[in-house]
Amino acid sequence: MKFELAAFAAGVAIVLSLLQSEPAQLASTPPPRGPFGLSLVTTTDGKPVAHEGFATSEDCALCHERQVEEFDGSLHSVSHHDPVYRAFAELARKEAGEEVYAYCSGCHAPASVVSGLVPGTAEAELPDNVKAGVQCDICHQVDSLSPSPWGEPGNANFALAPGKVKATLRAAIQANPGHEGREAGFLAKSEFCATCHTVIHPTNGLRIEHTYDEWKRSVYAEHGIQCQDCHMRSVADAIEVARTLKPVKVLGTTSGMSAQEREIHPHWFVGGNVETARLSGSEPHAAEAEARLKSAAELTLAVQAAKAGGELAFEVAVTNVGAGHSLPTSLTELREMWVHVRVLDAAGKLLYEDGALDAQGELAKAALRFGSELLDAQGKPTFRPWLGVSFGRKRLIAPKGTERETLRTTLPKELEGELTLEARLLYRIAPPHVLHEVMGEQAFVPRIVEMASARQGVTVSR
Ligand code: HEC
Ligand code: HEC
Ligand code: HEC
Ligand code: HEC
Ligand code: HEC
Repeated sequence: MKFELAAFAAGVAIVLSLLQSEPAQLASTPPPRGPFGLSLVTTTDGKPVAHEGFATSEDCALCHERQVEEFDGSLHSVSHHDPVYRAFAELARKEAGEEVYAYCSGCHAPASVVSGLVPGTAEAELPDNVKAGVQCDICHQVDSLSPSPWGEPGNANFALAPGKVKATLRAAIQANPGHEGREAGFLAKSEFCATCHTVIHPTNGLRIEHTYDEWKRSVYAEHGIQCQDCHMRSVADAIEVARTLKPVKVLGTTSGMSAQEREIHPHWFVGGNVETARLSGSEPHAAEAEARLKSAAELTLAVQAAKAGGELAFEVAVTNVGAGHSLPTSLTELREMWVHVRVLDAAGKLLYEDGALDAQGELAKAALRFGSELLDAQGKPTFRPWLGVSFGRKRLIAPKGTERETLRTTLPKELEGELTLEARLLYRIAPPHVLHEVMGEQAFVPRIVEMASARQGVTVSR
């Protein structure tokens, strides 16, 4: 046991009781340090391992062509090179120091940390194989999940064991010249993904990303549906899983050498990041992200009052039908999900609009937006996770939950015929000004995806 658990015992009890009452905010107790610093990533004996122990996907392609084809171009395959991440990580290194940068790397490029290269090695000197990010030889060289001081996973709480024995579902794999197998049942569980998909502030304990916690409280967890059941399945299968709350089984061969068909798990790992084509060069991953976003939500409109010269009042309701966690999830202070509403008269003239972008492409603060505002120690909004100490506004749509909002406006006296009400649920990975501030000349205008829409005619009483 290499974490300073004793010093932590008291803190854990408080943290757990807080967890039950307030999922999102949590924890003023600072997390412990692992043998590799602020990240909890480690090795079986807590000592650095040779970086050569991490193969890249090309080394697996000879026998696992399918998995490599699916994985290359995923965000896992560029979790170190992703230009949005690089810009944020270099800013963290500059403003918060090498130690915090190593904390980021514990999840984004774990091999660079457990090989002892980060902190302390310049980007240009780092070998390519450790910059391959969350590669095959991270997930499949995890020896075990480390006990977590929070009683749940986070901050890369796993131990790596590089070598010829891979973490597999079955110990008895078909003999082959590539490697042996070691049974690692955790691979099939959400707790494994949660090691990285729960981000806890390394010094103040704020839970910044809590996808796992959202899932854990959901009907999906209740029915035993894991992250893998949606993210290691096709979009069509994931939609089926969300609808029926039953896993879908897919059969195939696990390698080109395999004699027998088994249950397989497509390795696309796609979420909502539609910029994948730009970030990793993969169009298929970007197209899949768009399809995932479109499968996640439903939007409805209900008119409550419509009087010429009086009030138009209508409810916008957004339901999370397809995501096994909140909408949006994880980087909720950065991601933008909002409703664009328009009311038109019979001649097509715009009478009312909410959620439109201004000339700079920015969204007004008052818009109906789902997401959060991260606050720094002075209570000012920040998009720098390392400065976050609490959340201000936070509005997320729980799994299978619905968020409603009534919008109101005053209608003109003279109105001919029906009105048209239009609403669109939109998503983009970040506001343009943030990308501009962090990425400088490399910044791009983030693509907007329509996740759902509704349109309705309204008869006005006179
Ligand atoms: C020389 C061929 C070869 C190479 C190279 C190879 N593998 Fe394998 N791998 C196999 C074979 C054969 C199986 C067993 C298939 C079976 O039992 O049906 C297997 C099985 C696996 C399994 C487990 C399948 C299960 O059902 O549990 C994993 C995980 C795996 N390999 C990962 C990797 C990784 C990661 C790499 C690259 C670092 C790699 N393999 C390189 C041939 C290879
Ligand atoms: C506990 C693991 C973990 C740690 C530590 C971590 N991240 Fe991440 N990071 C993730 C995961 C998981 C995602 C993907 C979430 C998503 O896409 O919704 C992510 C996504 C990101 C993204 C979004 C990339 C994009 O293309 O939109 C940025 C930027 C980022 N992280 C920066 C950082 C920085 C800077 C640090 C250190 C201060 C850091 N991360 C520390 C796990 C981690
Ligand atoms: C983010 C973690 C992660 C990465 C990266 C990853 N895998 Fe896997 N892999 C898994 C998990 C999890 C499973 C089992 C899923 C389950 O049982 O629900 C799996 C299963 C497998 C299997 C068994 C057959 C199958 O399709 O289920 C093989 C073979 C395999 N992986 C090879 C690879 C190769 C080769 C790479 C790199 C190209 C790779 N994996 C990258 C997590 C990962
Ligand atoms: C019932 C299916 C389902 C399950 C279960 C599920 N997801 Fe998702 N996930 C989705 C859908 C649909 C999206 C796209 C909408 C969105 O971005 O939230 C998504 C998006 C994501 C994103 C991208 C969020 C963003 O836009 O930045 C991440 C990261 C993610 N999931 C991780 C996980 C993890 C980790 C788990 C397990 C704890 C999990 N998912 C369980 C369906 C699922
Ligand atoms: C070693 C850390 C690590 C593990 C383990 C891990 N992930 Fe991730 N994952 C990341 C990071 C880091 C990113 C974001 C990379 C980026 O955008 O720069 C990410 C991105 C993703 C995305 C894309 C998010 C988006 O915005 O579209 C999905 C989906 C995802 N992971 C699912 C999973 C699932 C399912 C598992 C478990 C089988 C898993 N991950 C295990 C670190 C990890």
